[in-house]
Amino acid sequence: MRVTFLLCLLSAVTPLAMAQAPVGNQEFNEVARMQANPARGAELFGACVSCHGARGGGTPEGDVPAIAGQHARVILRQLVDYRHANRWDVRMEAVASTHNLRQLRDLADLAAWISRLPTEQAPGVGDGANAAAGRATYQAWCAGCHGADGEGNGALLVPRVAGQHYRYLLRQLHDTVEGRRPNMPPPHADLLVGMDVVELTGLADYLSRLRPARELAR
Ligand code: HEC
Ligand code: HEC
Repeated sequence: MRVTFLLCLLSAVTPLAMAQAPVGNQEFNEVARMQANPARGAELFGACVSCHGARGGGTPEGDVPAIAGQHARVILRQLVDYRHANRWDVRMEAVASTHNLRQLRDLADLAAWISRLPTEQAPGVGDGANAAAGRATYQAWCAGCHGADGEGNGALLVPRVAGQHYRYLLRQLHDTVEGRRPNMPPPHADLLVGMDVVELTGLADYLSRLRPARELAR
């Protein structure tokens, strides 16, 4: 019941949020339709390793997120959002700019390669104190969209959150509450704004320790 409700909500809010970035949407739709070349993506990935690491694992202290094994469509959406100022980070805005990734197919090829990288790398985790509380909160409010194992859903542009670094996750939750992630669909701010520190740290800690049981669809 809740799952159905949340999926309806997602399909209702996404076009609304995306309508704010028409140029980005056009670009996203064009790139998402392309036949990607992961081997070419592996070469372009050389420009990402100085921060994300050779295997796309990011940094355990959480400054740089793990991107290995993320859904290709989610990676694409984020790159397009940084490119069109719908997500803010000076480093990624420079990386994703049209100056740096000149051809649209660069985005498609990169996303195809990164989504194929294995995810078994050890994430940074929290101190464990609130992880059990985080599990309950997650399963009640978030699993309907992000999946019971935090595996996400590429078709619906819902990111995999399982095995992501604790500090990165916590920062995204705070950024959402404080309006610094304009691309987060509306239920996030409403859900997160009333949560206390135990719930927020618990959510991030629980997710950082999760391992999806299922295969991800790219
Ligand atoms: C100078 C360091 C740096 C380089 C180089 C870099 N990134 Fe990033 N990347 C970051 C940081 C920091 C973030 C998190 C920014 C934020 O909080 O929004 C990030 C975030 C991302 C995200 C969003 C992840 C998520 O979970 O939403 C994607 C996708 C991404 N980078 C892809 C790439 C690709 C592809 C390249 C190479 C073409 C690359 N990055 C190069 C530092 C870098
Ligand atoms: C209605 C569906 C829905 C619900 C409910 C939902 N999410 Fe999300 N979530 C999304 C979508 C879609 C995105 C991608 C937004 C974007 O494009 O950046 C997202 C993004 C995120 C991100 C950013 C991931 C990254 O790599 O940067 C985090 C963290 C997150 N959600 C956590 C949560 C938590 C915790 C809850 C429960 C309190 C929750 N979400 C509830 C759909 C949902």
